[in-house]
Amino acid sequence: MKGIVFNLLEEVVTDAHGEQVWDALLDATGLSGSYTSLGSYPDEHLEQLLQAAASALDTPPGEILRWFGKAAMPLLAKRYPSFFSAHRSARPFVLSVNSIIHPEVRKLYPGADVPFFDFSDEPDGTLLMGYRSPRKLCLLSLGFIEGAAAYYHESTTFEHLECMHRGDSCCQIKITFTPGGAR
Ligand code: HEM
Repeated sequence: MKGIVFNLLEEVVTDAHGEQVWDALLDATGLSGSYTSLGSYPDEHLEQLLQAAASALDTPPGEILRWFGKAAMPLLAKRYPSFFSAHRSARPFVLSVNSIIHPEVRKLYPGADVPFFDFSDEPDGTLLMGYRSPRKLCLLSLGFIEGAAAYYHESTTFEHLECMHRGDSCCQIKITFTPGGAR
């Protein structure tokens, strides 16, 4: 996992809970916390930090991961405005992840392990998203999508129809975008 992910996690945890909570997570995990954005670090570090945050904040690790994704989006929008300004709503932004965003991420952060999503339009107007990754970070995706919806003043609901955490071979998530929503 690239250091940028840990940099973002530090920033959102510090903004929301203060530096002392980030330091406490490092103490609890025994990690040094010195991540450079372009460096590559074991995926387990993220797992360890999420577990420590779950204990410290008395919140399930999956919820922390989703919150992290949502809270990171405004920071990504500030750093990479062109990904966002190219679209006027969340759906086309999300659909650009395979074709534009993640390929650019791989150029900016050589060695980045980004997932590929299967998207299909459902007859009821919702978007079906298939996700498969050995890291099983489906809830990070949900957070990113919620954060993107908030950026475009929309809200989202999800139906997690299949999930790798429930033993399915991949995640299948039905996404509904609704206009209106607080940033
Ligand atoms: C809604 C849009 C997006 C979704 C659903 C999404 C989803 C994900 C997920 C789930 C991962 C974890 C890796 C894995 O699952 O194996 C990931 C990795 C990553 N994504 Fe995205 N992403 C989105 C947009 C973005 C944007 C806007 C950026 C920033 C420019 C970004 C940058 C990254 C980076 C740097 C990684 C880490 C790669 C690594 O550590 O090797 N993503 N993304």
